[in-house]
Amino acid sequence: MDVSIVPMDLDHLRQVRDLGLRVFDVTVKPYTSWSLTTIAEHLDSVDQPGIASACWVALDGDTVVGFVLGSMTFELRDDWAYLEWIAVSPDHQGQGIARRLVEACCTALFAVGATRVVTDVEASNTASATLMTRSGFTPAATVTLFVRPNPDAPEDDRSAAGVSSSRRSLVRSGRLVGDNLPRSF
Ligand SMILES: CC(C)(COP(=O)(O)OP(=O)(O)OC[C@H]1O[C@@H](n2cnc3c(N)ncnc32)[C@H](O)[C@@H]1OP(=O)(O)O)[C@@H](O)C(=O)NCCC(=O)NCCS
Repeated sequence: MDVSIVPMDLDHLRQVRDLGLRVFDVTVKPYTSWSLTTIAEHLDSVDQPGIASACWVALDGDTVVGFVLGSMTFELRDDWAYLEWIAVSPDHQGQGIARRLVEACCTALFAVGATRVVTDVEASNTASATLMTRSGFTPAATVTLFVRPNPDAPEDDRSAAGVSSSRRSLVRSGRLVGDNLPRSF
C-alpha cells in the first residue's frame, strides 16, 4: 500500500509518541525530551493560522510510519521556523518518506511567512544530516556541548543522560530554557 503524507491530528498522538520512543535517543542531546507534552504543544499552536499543518504524519493504511513536527517558534526570531522532530519507522526507512515529510513541513512554514527553517542535527546522525542536506538545508553554525563532570559524583550521575524529571517539567512549563536552546543550525 502507498504511504500517504497527511496533517497530524489528535488521533495520531499515541502512535507518534510511541514511534518517537522507539527511534529517538534523547541522551545524545540532553537538553531535549520526548513526551506527549512535546507533541501536544505542537498541536496546540493551531491558534496561529496555518501552523498546524507544519506537523505531518506518514500513514501506511491507519498506521503512523513517520512524522515531522515543526513550528513557527525558534528562540526570539519571529520569522524563523523550527523543524524540531522527524522520524520514520525502521521498516519504512530508505524509501524517501522523510524527504516528503520535510517538504510538507517546510512548504507550510514558508507559506505562513518563515524566512528560514532551522533544524539541528547531532554530529553522529548521518541519516539526519544527509536528509537535511538533500532537502536544501546547509550548515549555519556548530555548537559543541562541552561537559565537565563533578569528579566527586558517582559515575551514573555524571552521565549527560541524567536529566531530572523536575528539570524536564521546568522546561515544559517554560520556566527553564530547554528544547529551544540554540545548537547546530
Ligand atoms: C533520519 C530519518 C528520519 C530518515 O528517514 P528516511 O525516510 O529513511 O529518509 P529518506 O529515505 O527520505 O532519505 C533521505 C536522504 O537521506 C539519505 N539517508 C537516509 N538514511 C541514511 C543513512 N542511514 N545514511 C546515509 N544516508 C541516509 C537517503 O539516501 C536520502 O538521500 P537521497 O535523497 O540522496 O537518496 C530516519 O533515519 C530516522 O527516523 N532516524 C531516527 C530518528 C532521528 O534521528 N531523527 C532526526 C533527529 S529529530
